[in-house]
Amino acid sequence: MSGRIPDDFIDAVLARTDIADVIGTRVPLRRSGRELIGRCPFHEEKTPSFTVSPQKQFYHCFGCGAHGTAIGFLMAIDRLDFREAITELAQRAGMPLPEAAGSAQARGGPPLAPLYEVLSAASAFYQKQLRRHPAAGSAVDYLKNRGLTGATAARFHLGFAPDEWDSLKRALAPRYGETLLRQAGLLTGDDDRRGYDRFRGRIVFPIEDRRGRVIGFGGRIIGAGEPKYLNSPETPVFHKGRELYGLPNVLQHARNPDALLVVEGYMDVLMLAQHGIDTAVAVLGTALTAEHLRAAFRITPRLVLCFDGDAAGRRAAERAVDTALAELTDGRELRLLFLPQGEDPDSLVRRIGRDAFLAQVGTAMPVSQYLLHRLEQQVDIGSTEGRARLSALARPLLDKLPAGLYRDLLAEDIGRLVGRPITPAAGVRPALAARGRPRPGRRPSLVRRAILLLAHYPQLAAELDVLHTVQGIDRPGMDLLRRLLDAIAQLRQPRLDHLIELWRDSDDGAMLSRILASTELAPDTPDQAAQELRQIAAGLLAQARRAQLRTLLRDASPSQLDPKQKAEVLALLNQRRQTPT
Ligand code: UTP
Ligand code: MN
Repeated sequence: MSGRIPDDFIDAVLARTDIADVIGTRVPLRRSGRELIGRCPFHEEKTPSFTVSPQKQFYHCFGCGAHGTAIGFLMAIDRLDFREAITELAQRAGMPLPEAAGSAQARGGPPLAPLYEVLSAASAFYQKQLRRHPAAGSAVDYLKNRGLTGATAARFHLGFAPDEWDSLKRALAPRYGETLLRQAGLLTGDDDRRGYDRFRGRIVFPIEDRRGRVIGFGGRIIGAGEPKYLNSPETPVFHKGRELYGLPNVLQHARNPDALLVVEGYMDVLMLAQHGIDTAVAVLGTALTAEHLRAAFRITPRLVLCFDGDAAGRRAAERAVDTALAELTDGRELRLLFLPQGEDPDSLVRRIGRDAFLAQVGTAMPVSQYLLHRLEQQVDIGSTEGRARLSALARPLLDKLPAGLYRDLLAEDIGRLVGRPITPAAGVRPALAARGRPRPGRRPSLVRRAILLLAHYPQLAAELDVLHTVQGIDRPGMDLLRRLLDAIAQLRQPRLDHLIELWRDSDDGAMLSRILASTELAPDTPDQAAQELRQIAAGLLAQARRAQLRTLLRDASPSQLDPKQKAEVLALLNQRRQTPT
């Protein structure tokens, strides 16, 4: 990912976006006082607890704690990454992306909308040929012979590219032009010669992104021949090392699937789906990349990677695991499924059926176990040298894992194996993992409550001088409150959504997010919030005075106090009498 999106641009996009519009097109909302309310799209519920505040440009579910800005909403609901969500909102607002955003468009590449359009037209063309072309019979027979039903073919929008040099070109070039067809990867041939259809005499699998837009194609030869599959080349909308085939099908069946099954081929995805297993995605003829993994982990924290049981499958597994280690942060789970020799998911599910297949998936090997096996096989565990070598081999593996529970557990297992403890290199532990959630049932501290109020009504930071007085006090959480006041001072628009985006991906942001996720209500109006903040400030000052007094009285007996200190104690005692606590 190149080029950071400038904060200014994020600010401008948010300023021109109305969260009520963005969410309103996806979730039925009705007005309730100052807010809009509806059924939460992120968890199952009967009574609505999902609120959207047009004032704060913020959504919050009191049922599951989901919350965020318009950007966060798109990221969560459409599984977009940050850049994609910003791009989408900017497009809605008619704003060109800044240079630094690094999109193909910003770098002077072709605009993307016509590419999507021509790809979608090509997909429609191929689908029509499968139904109508006089020579489509061979393709249909081939699919039938492989056990694929017409319904499955239709569901995955399969098509047929006739065995002609230019049937697609003749159909689409008049409307879209040869240049665009070429940019979309649909034509091939030397640039100076005239282009001809890339896919000829093949069954065509449209590759669709998360949102169902066609971004490329895979084409299988009918019967035997080379290459067996031909894929679209890299284009501004198609990056083989990033896309997972079958995602729209998965998301259509479950917005939050329990686990994803990562397989190798188009036909595997189709045949599993035909057997009612709609959680499979395929990499597109490449090794599994970190980007694939990140895309998959955005859908679910649990992945099962399928490999052939043969030597090639084992090598692929080894490579995949090496790539995956760095992605295994806490809460994510990776398992490996080795299929019987000579089988792929397509053939296996046809042979043993859905239930037996799922039973096999249930036995997939956790990655930690796989790593242990791999290490054990490399050394003679029975000898002292073997064990020493094992601990040497383990070190680089452990170093690849992000600090966290996963790494600690694996280190423990390896330690047990070699007979002495192994401590991974001290890494930076995710700052928040260590500190616990605030215990439920406890009254939130004054500082925490102040943070919540200020986050909801950041405009009060400038109005309430007393907040700045309070900053000097030493209380738990005060650092965060101080940084919050600093951050608000930096914002051009003191609004909750701008604050959240300014702090996105930072430790402070994560902390704030935890506070916002609570079911604690913020007052309905800024006036109420201001009043509460004044009371909190007074309370904090009183707490500070008491602490000061205690220190003074503890550190010296009254007889030892010098006149100045005595005066201070008296003053503190006086104030204490006057201030309610
Ligand atoms: P396989 O060779 O395992 O094929 O390739 P398959 O999926 O079992 O295909 P069928 O069952 O014979 O039709 C697995 C995947 O690797 C990519 C394709 O994405 C394929 O689905 N591949 C394979 C290519 O890109 N090019 C090829 O020539 C072969
Ligand atoms: Mn196969």
